[in-house]
Amino acid sequence: MTNTNNLLAIIGGTGLGNLKNLEIIRHQVVNTPYGEPSAPLTFGLIGGSEVIFFARHGHSHRIPPHQINYRANLWALKEAGVSQIIAVAAVGGITPSVAPSVLCIPDQVIDYTYGREHTFFEGELESVTHIDFTYPYSESLRRELSHAAGLLSLDVVTGGVYGCTQGPRLESIAEVKRLERDGCDIVGMTGMPEASLARELGMDYAHLTVIANWAAGKNGDQVITMDEIDATLKDGMRKVRSLIQQVLEQRAVL
Ligand code: HPA
Repeated sequence: MTNTNNLLAIIGGTGLGNLKNLEIIRHQVVNTPYGEPSAPLTFGLIGGSEVIFFARHGHSHRIPPHQINYRANLWALKEAGVSQIIAVAAVGGITPSVAPSVLCIPDQVIDYTYGREHTFFEGELESVTHIDFTYPYSESLRRELSHAAGLLSLDVVTGGVYGCTQGPRLESIAEVKRLERDGCDIVGMTGMPEASLARELGMDYAHLTVIANWAAGKNGDQVITMDEIDATLKDGMRKVRSLIQQVLEQRAVL
């Protein structure tokens, strides 16, 4: 069943370059006034509901977080008729409940990035536009995700503060301590300006994060290795796929 009024896009990040349970219908290249998006849009069906999959880092995972053209990506999704986005991302866990392999649906964000094209409101504007960002994520999408997670008995933390760092390097111990003092529970590199650009374009946006590792200094004196991140993400992304399937199956029966 297709409901184009509520067209949902899944943005896949590290560890989620495709959706194996997606029945692909077509691919679409979108040109935008802001340049080239990371990848073509993939239209398909999951559980009978139409969905668009979009690879944030490109199909071969070639674009690092600070070089992603977030404006082109969000514009392309809006242009395709998307009104809702579930943005999947790998993060580091800072506070005790967000251990590796757990999923977290944050409810707040702090932006530590710099030098990224972060707004559509610039240039020759008729008026300055300030969007409300009190609640940065869509409550209804967050509820839908939590409900689906409950039905699947998945280990999901609902709520928490996402800190978005510039990357592409991981953080130092002192930086993670600062993030913790600021109130961050998880840390990633791609959630901003993605969330605020979605808000500027009037699209609902929720962040579905997978804890890939303990953030720096949160696992004794261990350093963080890519092997550890890859292994944990494999398990975490399996949960993400089944969660997304559940959300779409729920929609199909409504
Ligand atoms: N920090 C920032 N981004 C991340 C991390 C991290 O520890 N793990 C996965 N993405």
